[in-house]
Amino acid sequence: MKVLVAYASKHGSTKGIADFIGDKLRQSGNLVDVKEVKEIRNANDYDAFVIGSAVYMFHWLKEVKEFVSRNQAILSKKPVWLFSSGPVGKEARDKKGRDLRDVSGPNEIDELKELTKSRDHRVFFGVLDGTKLGFFYRQILKSSAVREGLPEGDFRDWADIEAWSSSIASSLEEIPKLAMG
Ligand SMILES: Cc1cc2nc3c(=O)[nH]c(=O)nc-3n(C[C@H](O)[C@H](O)[C@H](O)COP(=O)(O)O)c2cc1C
Repeated sequence: MKVLVAYASKHGSTKGIADFIGDKLRQSGNLVDVKEVKEIRNANDYDAFVIGSAVYMFHWLKEVKEFVSRNQAILSKKPVWLFSSGPVGKEARDKKGRDLRDVSGPNEIDELKELTKSRDHRVFFGVLDGTKLGFFYRQILKSSAVREGLPEGDFRDWADIEAWSSSIASSLEEIPKLAMG
């Protein structure tokens, strides 16, 4: 299977997740390209897609939403998996007891699922490194309400990401068999 792992990342942690997923799918015998969405010229070349974005202020990054809209006709006919790299912190739940992965966005996830007819969407914990943030995000973080929900650190759960990658690899193995009936 020729697989494209397409991502949008502002500060590199979503790229790290995309690279990791790409490696796992390669190890399972797939031909894999891992590309930032801005670099992708022809989505038609691929049999399956994993598409991910960092989440900022409850939204996927603009360029990845545009990639999905532009390639909707192709994506909706091929197997697609979506992921978001979002919540930060050691707590799995917020003060109201809600799973952070359910309440951190992206707000447009239902539309993205519908456009791509995706098989799954996963939210992974991400990274916040204050030293990497530009002026705009540093200003947003100055608000104490925002600051409280965004502790610094690398909270990516590689075991969780690996398990999801393995489930995608298994599904990809089934696809040629299904196509042959
Ligand atoms: C100003 C700011 C706003 C953020 N808003 C959200 C959010 O709404 N939901 C979320 O899950 N994560 C949010 N995050 C956390 C980022 O998504 C997380 O740090 C992610 O791993 C960054 O990915 P990147 O390094 O690929 O840019 C925010 C981070 C910053 C600095």
